[in-house]
Amino acid sequence: MKTAIIIGATSGIGKELATRLASDGWVVGAAGRRADRLEELASQFPEGTILTQAIDITSSDATAALDTLLARTGSPDLFLHVSGIGKQNPDLDEKIETNTMETNCTGMVRMVIHFINYVKACGEYSSSRKVHIGVISSVAGTAGIGNAPAYSASKRMQQTYISALVQLSRMKHLPVTFSDIRPGFVATDLLNPNKKYPMTISVDKAARCILNGLNRRKRIICFDWRYRILVFFWKLIPRCIWERLTFVKN
Ligand SMILES: NC(=O)c1ccc[n+]([C@@H]2O[C@H](COP(=O)([O-])OP(=O)(O)OC[C@H]3O[C@@H](n4cnc5c(N)ncnc54)[C@H](OP(=O)(O)O)[C@@H]3O)[C@@H](O)[C@H]2O)c1
Repeated sequence: MKTAIIIGATSGIGKELATRLASDGWVVGAAGRRADRLEELASQFPEGTILTQAIDITSSDATAALDTLLARTGSPDLFLHVSGIGKQNPDLDEKIETNTMETNCTGMVRMVIHFINYVKACGEYSSSRKVHIGVISSVAGTAGIGNAPAYSASKRMQQTYISALVQLSRMKHLPVTFSDIRPGFVATDLLNPNKKYPMTISVDKAARCILNGLNRRKRIICFDWRYRILVFFWKLIPRCIWERLTFVKN
């Protein structure tokens, strides 16, 4: 029986991943701020399948709460950091910008680093039993997006941070492997229900693609061929042209 920890399992992609893994016989440690949502999720499975822990990743108590969850699940095979917030913010509401940075950057670092330090200390992992760490960033991390400055920048930060951790873990021979998961638009509560988004995929399809990529331990999981093509061309656009593309809305 395998074990996964999912930070951000109360809704959307994280909840779908938790449900699928639990249905496939995994024990899942599920976290997020909304304890009622966690309890509801756990109640759908036999006792002991989904173990829950309320965690607010922006709080300094989050690391102690993660330790409590790890004490209950034991050393996991998979650690998924899914938690994130994102809003379009063309009017530059300061609170939105700083909250986004605190959640997507500081919160992600707090959880992932605390977990890696747990891996180093616990003695359960080795070169033949490595833990796999997945972080959900976004295709939005490909370039600075004028309508969502903090969101796009925070997702780019996550991608660079994971890359640094991959290099460091090789240097230090840490028993960890990483996936940077980069969805395009997925139909979840993160999207504004009053807006239309191009090339949106269902949460069901997103979870399937993510689990497929994780199974293959892909370093970068970018799914839906349309997004692969989009990102390929995005990357070719010179900065001086990108910054003049005032019609880019999403
Ligand atoms: N939907 C998309 O189009 C899309 C595209 C690319 C990338 N992503 C990324 O996918 C990830 C999941 O988003 P989603 O689309 O599934 O949206 P969602 O349904 O809003 O899920 C967000 C999750 O993050 C958790 N979270 C937010 N703030 C938190 C905090 N301070 N502490 C702990 N958990 C927190 C939420 O739990 P609580 O509120 O209960 O704490 C929830 O479980 C995010 O990182 C997002 O940036 C989404």
